[in-house]
Amino acid sequence: MSVICTSEGSSPVPTPLFSAPATPETERDEYFDEPSLRLEDDAPYVLVTGGLGYIGSHTSLELLKAGYNVIIVDDLSNSFDHVFDRILLAAKQHFDRTGGHCPRAELRCIDFRDMPAMRALLASYTVEPSPDINNNSTPSRSRITGVIHFAAFKDVNDSLRNPLKYYHNNVTGLVDLVSLLADHDIKTFIFSSSANVYGTLAQNHGTLREEHCVHQPETYHCASSSEPITSEQGCTGITNPYGRTKWMGEAILSDIAASDPSWTIIGLRYFNPIGCDPSGLLGEDPRGTPSNLVPVVVQVLTGQLPALSVYGTDWATPDGTAIRDFIHVSDVARGHTAALAAALAGKVKTNFRTFNLGTGRGHSVAEVVAAMEGVSHQDIPKRLADRRPGDVQECVAVPKRAACELGWEAEKSLQDACQDLWHSLRGDRVEGMLG
Ligand SMILES: NC(=O)c1ccc[n+]([C@@H]2O[C@H](COP(=O)([O-])OP(=O)(O)OC[C@H]3O[C@@H](n4cnc5c(N)ncnc54)[C@H](O)[C@@H]3O)[C@@H](O)[C@H]2O)c1
Repeated sequence: MSVICTSEGSSPVPTPLFSAPATPETERDEYFDEPSLRLEDDAPYVLVTGGLGYIGSHTSLELLKAGYNVIIVDDLSNSFDHVFDRILLAAKQHFDRTGGHCPRAELRCIDFRDMPAMRALLASYTVEPSPDINNNSTPSRSRITGVIHFAAFKDVNDSLRNPLKYYHNNVTGLVDLVSLLADHDIKTFIFSSSANVYGTLAQNHGTLREEHCVHQPETYHCASSSEPITSEQGCTGITNPYGRTKWMGEAILSDIAASDPSWTIIGLRYFNPIGCDPSGLLGEDPRGTPSNLVPVVVQVLTGQLPALSVYGTDWATPDGTAIRDFIHVSDVARGHTAALAAALAGKVKTNFRTFNLGTGRGHSVAEVVAAMEGVSHQDIPKRLADRRPGDVQECVAVPKRAACELGWEAEKSLQDACQDLWHSLRGDRVEGMLG
């Protein structure tokens, strides 16, 4: 495998959460091919932006396991370059176990908004026209057959303070990226969306289906009504700039797909990814202060924070805390390989399609904390706090569309996610593997 890391400077020290020793350089060399080999053959690649982040790293691993060659573009704004070694090591372990051949992976440490750098990257994967036996020239084509776009900023509170930072990266960046991809005729695109696009619709529905938030009018049937229901395009009650960037991203992509049938675009709406790969090699290791529930729980368990703030304990739920659809991140990652396979096989119903990636089961915040206490045999100190503006009581996916059309379902439980996370925190699997 080849690594081309164009970033200057040293990699930062990982946080204690996933601070197992970095893969030694010698071990790195062991499974890297000569970079020159890469340019000589015709193998297809998947481009993964933000592939060193939490969901991107797990997806890159699942892509390798599924046989795809992968190019990761990440500017390390919210991740560390040692994550690349971890992905390779986890993939190597998988293929050592299963006996298969590990596909190739490459890392480019660049901002996906750096158009000259991205243009150079895409150019290096373009197969130039070559005359056939009749002296007819075939058009140039890219060896990149699909793109999975994770790279974005995702902190809801930060987006309220710095909206332009979010619109620049998540919206302007997306427009520039898809324009560049169109220039290279790369038109299979998987977009990281979010349950955030449903805004306050969760208030009315509790469980959310894709038809509740659409970009073209959609008619559907549901059990509670004998009449078909038509959803008009638009969004309802999105309370923060981050959520709006995801809705806008979907809307832009939907318009592109409507204007040009040669695109196949899928928006995956993640609910609440938690946990980590069972190898313990990957995890959620953001820079700065985490905002999601589980990384904060982890910081309390590891003594970096004195207590967990539980926002909202007076909801009309059995224990008073909010209910969310927590889904194991490896299930989310497999959702991407399922979506990509369907898109590449031309098996997506419309050329812009959204899918919920959730389990369809809700768990309260208190249940997650209790599950983490159970696997760790430790008490997690809690501080009860007021509801945060924009929070909803319950947000749970109806995941049927992904099951019917992508053949994907979440397989792992909340308990699995907490167990994997705890093993990873203890470092037992990682220590064992790195000797
Ligand atoms: N984690 C969640 O709960 C969640 C839920 C719904 C949607 N999402 C979306 O999923 C995607 C991935 O989320 P995550 O949790 O893995 O986040 P993350 O921050 O861990 O990963 C994002 C990665 O993208 C990189 N990045 C950001 N801007 C970049 C740029 N301009 N150029 C190159 N790299 C850049 C970061 O360094 C990071 O490695 C995001 O688009 C996020 O909005 C996440």
